[in-house]
Amino acid sequence: MHAASTTHPVGDRVRPADAEWWRQAVVYQIYPRSFADSDGNGLGDLRGVTSRIPYLASLGVDAVWLSPFYPSALADGGYDVDDYRDVDPRLGTLADFDEMTAGLHARRIKVIVDIVPNHTSSRHAWFREALASPKGSPARNRYIFRDGLGPDGAQPPSDWVSEFGGPAWSRVPDGQWYLHLFTPEQPDLNWDNREVRDDFLATIRFWSDRGVDGFRVDVAHGLAKNLAEPLAPVPGMKDLIEGTLPPGSHPLWDRDEVHDIYAEWRRVFDSYDPPRAGVAEAWVHPSRRPKYASPDGLGQAFNFDLLDANWNAGEFLRVITDNLADAQRQGSSMTWVLSNHDVVRHATRYGLPPEDRHGHPTAGEWLLSGGTSPRLDRGLGLRRARAAILLMLALPGSAYLYQGEELGLHEVPDIPLELVQDPCYARSGGAEKGRDGCRVPLPWTAAGPSFGFGAGAAHLPQPAWFGPLSVEAQERDPASALMLYRNALRWRRKLQTAESMEWLPGTGGQVLHFARLGGWRCVTNFGPGPIPLPAGNLILTSVPVDGDQLPADTTAWLLTS
Ligand code: GLC
Repeated sequence: MHAASTTHPVGDRVRPADAEWWRQAVVYQIYPRSFADSDGNGLGDLRGVTSRIPYLASLGVDAVWLSPFYPSALADGGYDVDDYRDVDPRLGTLADFDEMTAGLHARRIKVIVDIVPNHTSSRHAWFREALASPKGSPARNRYIFRDGLGPDGAQPPSDWVSEFGGPAWSRVPDGQWYLHLFTPEQPDLNWDNREVRDDFLATIRFWSDRGVDGFRVDVAHGLAKNLAEPLAPVPGMKDLIEGTLPPGSHPLWDRDEVHDIYAEWRRVFDSYDPPRAGVAEAWVHPSRRPKYASPDGLGQAFNFDLLDANWNAGEFLRVITDNLADAQRQGSSMTWVLSNHDVVRHATRYGLPPEDRHGHPTAGEWLLSGGTSPRLDRGLGLRRARAAILLMLALPGSAYLYQGEELGLHEVPDIPLELVQDPCYARSGGAEKGRDGCRVPLPWTAAGPSFGFGAGAAHLPQPAWFGPLSVEAQERDPASALMLYRNALRWRRKLQTAESMEWLPGTGGQVLHFARLGGWRCVTNFGPGPIPLPAGNLILTSVPVDGDQLPADTTAWLLTS
C-alpha cells in the first residue's frame, strides 16, 4: 500500500514556521449573509460574525474564510462585486471588518477573504464607465466587448453559453456585446489589460494591509483567455475537468498564461511577514492542479475529488491515494472539502442514492422535487457524514469546513420558488433549483423569530426542523454533531503530526484504515456489516460504539503506542 513521505518541499524558499500555518489548518467557511445577523435586517453581517467569535474559538478552527461581503446587488450571492475594497453597507463597515479581524486574531483565528477576479459586477464603477464610453475606448478595454455577427451585428459574437445557462454575451445599447461567463450582471474582465492586473494587486495589498492572512481565489482557472477571432465553439467544463482536451488548450479556462498573473500575486503575498496565503478554486483536471498550488503561485488549490465521491470505500481510497501523490509532486499540502456554498450538503448527498461522478444528478433531481424524490434517508446521510468528517479530519493536509455542517444540517430542498435567490434557477429555465438550500441562515437557538440568527426573519426561510438542530440544542447533547466536531478538532490539534500517512492492512473492500505518525489511527467501515475493531485505545468514534466491533458507516480514531 502507498506510504507518503513526510517532506513538504517549498521550492528553494526558506520560510519561517508561521508562514506555513495553512498547511494543516482547519478552515471554516462563513457565508456572511447567512451566518449571524446583528441588526435584524434579515441578512447576516460582520458584527454578527464578531458576536460569534467565542463559538468559532470553541469549535477549534484555525481560520475562517469569508465568502464575499463586498457591496453587491446579490445577482450571484455576492460573487458579483461592486467594489473590491469596501463592505456592503447592509453587512457593515470597514471599521466592523477591522474589529472582526482583531477579535478573530485575538483568539488565534486567521482570516481569509474571497477575491473574485474573473468578473466584476455590472454595477462596478468600471463597468458603468464602459457603458458610458464609446466602442474601442480604454474603459471598454477593461472588459471583453466585441461587435456582433450578422449584417447588423444582432447576433452574439459566438455561440458560447454561460455557466449558469443562457448566452454568455449580452448586448449594450450601442449594439456591442460583452462577455459574461456567469450571469449578465458579472461581466468578465480583460486580464490582458495591465490596468486590471495592477488594480487587483492594489486590492490584495489593501486587505493584506488590514491584516488579512490569505485569499480564496474565485474561479482561479478563468481570467486568462484566448479570444483570437473567429471565436470557435468551445468544449464544456466537463471536458476540461475530465482531461479530454490537450492541456491548456481551452480558450476560456485553465490556460497556462493564468499562472503569470498568480506569480505576480505571489510576489505581493511574499512581501508581507508572514507571507499571505492563497487557495485556488480551480475546477481543472487533477494533473493541472499542482500549478495553481505551486509555491510560486497561489500556494494551495482546493481538491474537490472527495466532494465529488460517493460514500464508497473504493472511491475514497482512490481519491486519497491520488491526492497524496499530487501533494508530493506539487509541494503544497492536500486540501479536503466535503461541502461548500455551491453544492448540496454532504449529509444529504450521502442519504440519497449514489451519483455518477462529476455532477450530482440524484441530488439535483431531489432538489427539483422539493425533497420528495428520490427518498432521502436523513438518518443514514447524517451517520455517514459523521463518519466521513472523522475520516477527513484524520488525513494530512488542510480541512475546509462549511458553516452548518458541524450541526449536521441537511440541505433545505423546499424553498418556495418565488423566494429562490440563486440565478442558476432562472437562467437554467428551472432545470436546476440552485444553491440556496445550503445557504439558509444558521439556527443558533431552538426557538425565536429566525432561530437566533437575528431579531427578524431570515433572508431565506428556515425550516421548522432547524430548531432541534440549533447550536443551543446541540450544546446540551453530548452525542450531537456539534460535540463530535468540537471533540474531533480538539483531538486533531493534539495529535497533529507531519504530513504523512500510511495505509494499514485491512484497507480494501469496505474498509479504510490508515496511520499517522505518533500512533494516531483512523478506521472507517463503509458497511454493510460490522467489522472487528483494530487494536489500539479508542479515543473517538463517529457514533457510539459498544464492544469490539465497528458498525457499518462508522469511523473510529485509535491511539497505539
Ligand atoms: C465560484 C463561486 C460561486 C460563484 C461563481 C461565480 O464558483 O464559488 O458561488 O457563483 O464562482 O463567481
